[in-house]
Amino acid sequence: MTHPSLSTRDLTIRFGGHVAVNKVTCDFRPGELTVIVGPNGAGKTTFFNMISGQLLPSEGTVTKDGVDLTRLSPSTRARHGVGRAFQLTNLFPRLSVLENIRLAVQAQTGDGRRFFRPAARFTDLTARAERYLEATRLEKVAHLPAATLPHGDQRKLEVALLMAMEPDIYMFDEPTAGMSLDHAPDVLDLIAELKHDPSKTILLVEHKMDVVRKLADRIIVLHNGELLADGDPDEVMSSQLVRDVYLGTAA
Ligand SMILES: Nc1ncnc2c1ncn2[C@@H]1O[C@H](COP(=O)(O)OP(=O)(O)O)[C@@H](O)[C@H]1O
Ligand SMILES: [Mg+2]
Repeated sequence: MTHPSLSTRDLTIRFGGHVAVNKVTCDFRPGELTVIVGPNGAGKTTFFNMISGQLLPSEGTVTKDGVDLTRLSPSTRARHGVGRAFQLTNLFPRLSVLENIRLAVQAQTGDGRRFFRPAARFTDLTARAERYLEATRLEKVAHLPAATLPHGDQRKLEVALLMAMEPDIYMFDEPTAGMSLDHAPDVLDLIAELKHDPSKTILLVEHKMDVVRKLADRIIVLHNGELLADGDPDEVMSSQLVRDVYLGTAA
């Protein structure tokens, strides 16, 4: 089995007296897409927030390739290859879709001042940006201002910007939430395509069971902040404990 790229150990966070995530110990490996499921309020987003750095845990650790990320800022974690798709808040609304992607490529490449052939670099950046544009099938809207995109395309742009960061770890928290049925499959196809690269580790919070079945190499179940199950998708989804959680009969 490949070495884990990302690991949590006893990851715990309390909000006042409420334990939102409770001693979650988990390893994630390159080439593996893990779907995280659990009822509303189970702690899925909070777990993600502690991995990407939006929240600091009360206890426990997050490591990537042996580096302790637990207390690092979100941007430092991103430089370590932890990539999380966000609703587009850091977008330049008046710039085109392509320009937004190119800026993300540029940010990934680092400070442009270190390079002394700006023209060649611009061509290279554009070529890379166009690759992500094609990968996310946004060619048709490449020159539209980002702010004018329909919702479905905005979500694709989020994936394009994330791909432009070239992270090792991809994190998606309910990427199809609020999407119409005809757009949701596009974004899920994009995530499925990321699986072709065996060096990538993918974490996906998703409720839709058909999606889970199709994409998951592994499922973990959170319930009341605890890791309730972890393993093969068929086994996990058919276990009595998990059924109880979904039917609301578990403690
Ligand atoms: N910043 C916060 N302050 C207080 N409570 C929070 C905060 N973030 C999340 N919680 C609580 O933590 C629990 C888990 O929430 P969340 O991680 O959003 O669940 P999920 O994503 O699984 O639906 C919930 O009870 C929620 O109210
Ligand atoms: Mg959530």
